[in-house]
Amino acid sequence: MSDTPVYFQQIVEDRALLTAEAIVELSKCSTLEELETIRVKYLGKNGTVTTLLKKLGSISSPIEKKEAGQYLNETKQDIEQKIEEKKRTFKQELLTKQLSAEWVDVTLPPRPEVQGRIHPVSRTMAEISAIFAAQGFAVAEGPEIEDDYHNFTALNFPENHPARQMHDTFFLRGEGQGARNEEKGNLDPPPSTLLLRTHTSPVQIRTMQSGKPPFRFIAPGRTFRCDSDMTHTPMFHQVEGFVIDKNIHMGHLKGCIESFLRAFFEMDNVPVRFRPSFFPFTEPSAEVDIGCKRDKGEIKIGAGADWLEVMGCGMVHPNVLKNCKLDPNEWQGFAFGMGVERLAMLKYGIPDLRTFFESDIRWLKHYGFSSLGDAS
Ligand code: PHE
Repeated sequence: MSDTPVYFQQIVEDRALLTAEAIVELSKCSTLEELETIRVKYLGKNGTVTTLLKKLGSISSPIEKKEAGQYLNETKQDIEQKIEEKKRTFKQELLTKQLSAEWVDVTLPPRPEVQGRIHPVSRTMAEISAIFAAQGFAVAEGPEIEDDYHNFTALNFPENHPARQMHDTFFLRGEGQGARNEEKGNLDPPPSTLLLRTHTSPVQIRTMQSGKPPFRFIAPGRTFRCDSDMTHTPMFHQVEGFVIDKNIHMGHLKGCIESFLRAFFEMDNVPVRFRPSFFPFTEPSAEVDIGCKRDKGEIKIGAGADWLEVMGCGMVHPNVLKNCKLDPNEWQGFAFGMGVERLAMLKYGIPDLRTFFESDIRWLKHYGFSSLGDAS
């Protein structure tokens, strides 16, 4: 007879009871949290099965101990297995639920996205740059806030010269000597006066001051004049062109501009006219017109009664070279400055300059370009 029949008997009974009880509880449980509570109740540190396992030591008969141990371990495995099964089922259910909640119909057509358009000015500047890049021109830049020296004086605008007033300059009212002293009736501001550049030509000066000849660059950018009507806006864009080398002459200038215009308008016989003109920083100077026709609010390039001025040009004035410490007997060159909006108007048939900057989204949709690089 064993010394510990009570324990042994109890364990055998408890085991059957335990398994039955656990099965009932498990069948009622419906969440992972409840499942965890059941696990702790039976198999946790102080769980029923664990506690019984601890009691094994007090059975003195080795045979009974072994048998009881086996029973208990089977019970433990049984419950463990059932809990695992339940856990798997719950996880599967949860996943199915989540999948059906997050279901996406990949066959649905995409919602239309508002696509931005490239402004004709940006597009035209890119086209101009590409054409000159192919001819070996670099790209230079200068500040939009300039000083009187770079915008006028170094470009051979004499003090008190009417050409300064012709530019309708926006002067910046700053402190100290930078301010324009109107009270004293002084129309020519001191050389350090700041202003919004009236053209891209000051980039000629800045580039010559900071580098060594030969030069061959374009300088695209914003320019400003206090002017507003059908053909003028206070802010507009120019692309300056500048070539300095030895033995450069007017033939190079004409050839360069004509080949540019042919490439830009993609037209071999584009009507071009060089008209004698005046700029303080070039001698001789010319203005370049393109033949066009205004037709029912549209502007069309080609033979017609109208001409539209698109750029100024000329041979760089010796004084400008001297101002930048270059010897005019050694270095010569030409310069040109084109109006980007004018060229865009002609190429894309846009009749009114002012519409460029009205930010009317319908206008941009009509005249703008797709960002994907095609011409639509
Ligand atoms: N800067 C001149 C203008 O804005 C254009 C120009 C540039 C003329 C270069 C000659 C040479 O009108």
